[in-house]
Amino acid sequence: MITGATSGVGKAAAMALAGSENELILIARNEKKGEAVKREILNLYPFTKVSLLLGDLSLMKDIRKVARQFQNKFESLDVLINCAGLVSSDRVETSEGIEQTLAVNYLSHYLLSNLLLPELKKSNQGRIINVASLIPPIAKVNFDDLNSEKNYNGIKAYLQSKAADVMFTYDLAEELKHTNMTVNAVHPGVVKTNLGVNTSKGFLYLFVKFSEKFLAITPEKSAKRIVYLATDPGLSKITGKYFKGGKKPVATNSFSNNPENRKKLLELTKLFIGQN
Ligand SMILES: NC(=O)c1ccc[n+]([C@@H]2O[C@H](COP(=O)([O-])OP(=O)(O)OC[C@H]3O[C@@H](n4cnc5c(N)ncnc54)[C@H](OP(=O)(O)O)[C@@H]3O)[C@@H](O)[C@H]2O)c1
Repeated sequence: MITGATSGVGKAAAMALAGSENELILIARNEKKGEAVKREILNLYPFTKVSLLLGDLSLMKDIRKVARQFQNKFESLDVLINCAGLVSSDRVETSEGIEQTLAVNYLSHYLLSNLLLPELKKSNQGRIINVASLIPPIAKVNFDDLNSEKNYNGIKAYLQSKAADVMFTYDLAEELKHTNMTVNAVHPGVVKTNLGVNTSKGFLYLFVKFSEKFLAITPEKSAKRIVYLATDPGLSKITGKYFKGGKKPVATNSFSNNPENRKKLLELTKLFIGQN
């Protein structure tokens, strides 16, 4: 299962995984885009089994709906790739009252993973892959204003959501340590995708434009990082790690490794999810 399968890294990962015997479940918010990716896959690999489930992952009710639809149709899940994400110059609040970066980049990963644990458990070796980002020292969770209501900064909101992704990866790995399931996070690299479409001003705009022009790799190259984590037999017991492009995991910043911070995040997360 791949979220964010209609564009960029998620789409490239879906295309890369489609060539083998994998059955794919694409998650998309836009039916037309989802159907187009499905068609592209079937044109290239006519015998691939591919399903499309629709949901807006900024809404907890839609995430629950996607999980239910999956559970009604499938018995087990081998790999969940939480790839949907965004960065935005402006603060946008969902109809459930959650700032959209937090909702899509972090809460959707957290909630979908937790809802699908029973099916991942039924796999021989269920894997969760959280597509994070770079986690520099300034990537922190603002516990006083997780929802960016007092103050919104697109870069901070993005880095917060990605720090939260790796913190949740570490916690969930701890929770699952006596099971056959693994959960890891990955930085996909700086990649030329549609990620910058909602960045129209300020430093964020300049950073995105500069990165696209001088630093970015292709989605296909980036997808190799995800395919590695999804399929490499050598990783069957590697869990609670963060990968940045190499075969070996690397450490993230001290904030994300602090157990007190992770506990606070988990408490706040449960409040947010519980309300919706
Ligand atoms: N590109 C980079 O340099 C870079 C660097 C670090 C991390 N990342 C991470 O890589 C992941 C993939 O991003 P990308 O670069 O491939 O960007 P992208 O081309 O913009 O793809 C983002 C995907 O997320 C989906 N999405 C966004 N909001 C959604 C929502 N509310 N509900 C359901 N799906 C939603 C998009 O759907 P639509 O097609 O409908 O818009 C799209 O499929 C993200 O988590 C991003 O943070 C990217």
